[in-house]
Amino acid sequence: MNWGILAPGHIARKFAEDLQYVAGSKMVAVGSRSLDRAIGFAEEFGVAKAYGSYQELVNDPDVQVVYVASPHSEHYEHTLLCLNAGKHVLCEKAFALNTEQVREMTALAKEKELFLMEAIWSRFHPAILQTLEIVQSGQIGEIVHVQADFGFKAEYDVTKRLFNRDLAGGSLYDIGLYPLFISKLLLGVPAEIKALGTITETGVDMNCSMALRYDSGATASLFSTFAAKTDTTCTIYGTKGQLFIQSRFHETTGLTLYPEDAMPQSISTERIGWGYAYEAEHVQNCISEGLTESPLLPHSFSIELMESLVDIRRQIGVVYPGDEK
Ligand SMILES: NC(=O)c1ccc[n+]([C@@H]2O[C@H](COP(=O)([O-])OP(=O)(O)OC[C@H]3O[C@@H](n4cnc5c(N)ncnc54)[C@H](OP(=O)(O)O)[C@@H]3O)[C@@H](O)[C@H]2O)c1
Repeated sequence: MNWGILAPGHIARKFAEDLQYVAGSKMVAVGSRSLDRAIGFAEEFGVAKAYGSYQELVNDPDVQVVYVASPHSEHYEHTLLCLNAGKHVLCEKAFALNTEQVREMTALAKEKELFLMEAIWSRFHPAILQTLEIVQSGQIGEIVHVQADFGFKAEYDVTKRLFNRDLAGGSLYDIGLYPLFISKLLLGVPAEIKALGTITETGVDMNCSMALRYDSGATASLFSTFAAKTDTTCTIYGTKGQLFIQSRFHETTGLTLYPEDAMPQSISTERIGWGYAYEAEHVQNCISEGLTESPLLPHSFSIELMESLVDIRRQIGVVYPGDEK
């Protein structure tokens, strides 16, 4: 499968490194807004073709699938650019600004019969697959509560993507998405969400605290922040025991199962490289099977996740340009 890399920033480098672990993958081209940056990336990773624009990248007939690694504000436009040029797409999270954009992106992929998936890499990690298996087997009974957090201390620099409202920065879209993802994976669509946030001078959330309720009766407490390093763990409390996903839960290699009537059990799981190879391999398999969406992370999942993100963002008062509702 011939990959093209769109926007060679921080995460694109890690993804490119991990493609070495994906059988049948080849990086054939990279596109940047700057030809120099594209050449720099191509030299670093041995990519044959470097382009000074995204349009040139998607015009390349050798490219089959594009990894979109630009800021959140740009995902909608860049995904449409790729799909309209006939390319399959793996697009970084958060998928877009709002649900309307995600619906348009996924509808276009279907119309063009091209594969499109949000790059929630954790969905394909062995630890998360094992978590689902344990929960679904009933070993901890019915889920009563999920607690998950993701926090790191970021230097407050208003020029950075993380604090830039124009680039759809803020902790919720950047890292709060992971606690929301795990609670959604385990519990589905929430019946009700209450959220509070702390907003920076630049108008994005530094902290975001979320309380969720589900029709099953379960609840969840989720948190994200750029102001402090937090545990970045997830605990699933069930009627017959607990399952603890060790730090950092979204990329972990360890779980601890606490059955109600037995000794705790440590479970080690695999992670190859940074952990991006699993999603890339899944994308390749889906494309080979002619699918337009992933059975593990379908378009409906991304649409519902975005509905929650937008609900929370509006409750905490973060308004992005292009989504002034
Ligand atoms: N899955 C993960 O583990 C993970 C981890 C970190 C980030 N991410 C996600 O990956 C995406 C990118 O994050 P990052 O940390 O890699 O960001 P980054 O280092 O700032 O890279 C983003 C790149 O996007 C390009 N770009 C296009 N339009 C831009 C604009 N208007 N302003 C600034 N840059 C623009 C730039 O490349 P050129 O100008 O050279 O084209 C830039 O290098 C985000 O969606 C983020 O949430 C995912």
